[in-house]
Amino acid sequence: MTTRRLVLTRSAAIVGAASTGLLIPQIARAQGNKVRVGLMLPFTGTFAQLGVAIENGVRMAINEKGGKLGGREIEWFKVDDESEPSKGVENASRLVQRDKVDVLIGTVHSGVQMGIQKVVRDSGTLCIIPNAGVHAATRALCAPNVFRTSFTNSQPTLALGKTMVDKGHKKAVWITWKYAAGDEAFEGFRDSYTKAGGTIVKELGLPFPNVEFQALLTEIASLKPDAVACFFAGGGAAKFIRDYAAAGLKGKIPLYGSGFLTEGVLDAAGPAADGIITTMHYSDALDTPRNKQFRTAYATQFKMQPDVYAVQGYDSGQLLVQGATAVKGDLNNKQALYKALEAAVIDSPRGKWTMSKSHNPVQDMYLRVVENKENKVIGVAAKALADSGAGCKMG
Ligand code: PHB
Repeated sequence: MTTRRLVLTRSAAIVGAASTGLLIPQIARAQGNKVRVGLMLPFTGTFAQLGVAIENGVRMAINEKGGKLGGREIEWFKVDDESEPSKGVENASRLVQRDKVDVLIGTVHSGVQMGIQKVVRDSGTLCIIPNAGVHAATRALCAPNVFRTSFTNSQPTLALGKTMVDKGHKKAVWITWKYAAGDEAFEGFRDSYTKAGGTIVKELGLPFPNVEFQALLTEIASLKPDAVACFFAGGGAAKFIRDYAAAGLKGKIPLYGSGFLTEGVLDAAGPAADGIITTMHYSDALDTPRNKQFRTAYATQFKMQPDVYAVQGYDSGQLLVQGATAVKGDLNNKQALYKALEAAVIDSPRGKWTMSKSHNPVQDMYLRVVENKENKVIGVAAKALADSGAGCKMG
C-alpha cells in the first residue's frame, strides 16, 4: 500500500510538473541520450557475407541522412547470431535485456528469427527484419512492433512457377535446405507451378547448412526432369551452382531458383552460374538512376558490389530514419512511430515499395538471368506482389 501511494503521489507530482513546464529539461535530456541500435546478424558461417552486406546497407542509409536518428546520436550494439536457431532467444535477449536497445535490426536466418520474434513480442521492442522470410513473423505471429523490409519466403517463388511452365518445363524437381526458408520457398513454388499446369516429380532436401550435394545431384540426373528449381543462399548457393555444373547437369537440365541463389555469389560461382533464371525483388542491373546512384555509392564506400542483402539493409536504415524523424527521435512515442513506419514509402534501389497491413513489403518481382557475373533483368514476373498476411491480427 505504501509503495502504491508513493507511486500515485509521484505521478501526480509529474503531471503537475509537466503542466507547469518544469519537466522539459528532463525530457530534453532523455532525448539527448543516444539511440541504442542493436544489430543481430550472422557474421560467421555460410551466411556471414549476408550479415556484412546488411550492416553496410543499414549504416550507409543512416549516414546519408547525417548519421543520426531524429536528431539523436547512435550507440551500436552487435551480436553474431551464427545462423544458429538454438541460440536465437539468448542472443536476442542479450540485446533487449542487457543492452536495452531501442531497436533490434535482425536477422538473416528464419529459424533464428523465430527466437527474435518471441523476445520482441514479449518486450515490445521495435524490430526491423532485414532479411529472414519466415512466414509467421508477418502472418500468425505478426506484431505492431515488428516490420520487415525484405520479403516472405514464398514471395519470390510465387513468381517462379508460371515462368517455368511458360518456358515449356512441365516436370520439375525441387531441391533445398530443409528448414523454414526452404520449406516456405517450396510453398510458393508448388502453388505457382502446379497452378500453371506443372508437375513436381520429386522434392529433395538436406539439412541446413550441409553442402554435400553429390548424392542428390546423381538422383536428379536419373530422374531427368525438364528443369530444377531450388532455394539456396550464401556460401552454400555458390557451392550448389558449381557442383550442379561439375555433375554435368548444366546445359542439360535448366536450373531455376528463388533469386537468393545468385545473390552475392557470382564471383565465387564463376561461369557455372551463367544462364540460371531466378525471380527476386531486386536486380543489380535495374536501369534506374536510383539504383545506379546506390550501387556507385556503395561500391565506393565498401569496395565491394552491393547485392539484395545490401539493399534490404539499406532499406531498413531508410525505414528507421523515416520513423525516427517522424517522432523527432522519441522512439518511445510508439503509436506515432508505428503509424509512420506503416505509412512509409521506401525509395529503394529495388523500386519504391510500401508496407502491407501485416508489415511486409508490397513489391515487384523481377525475372533475371545470370550473364557474365551479373543478374540481368529479363522481365517483371509479378507486379506489386503482397504476401497474404494470413492469420495476422495486430494488437
Ligand atoms: C531465411 O532463412 O529466411 C533466408 C536466408 C537466406 C536467404 C533468404 C532467406 O537468402
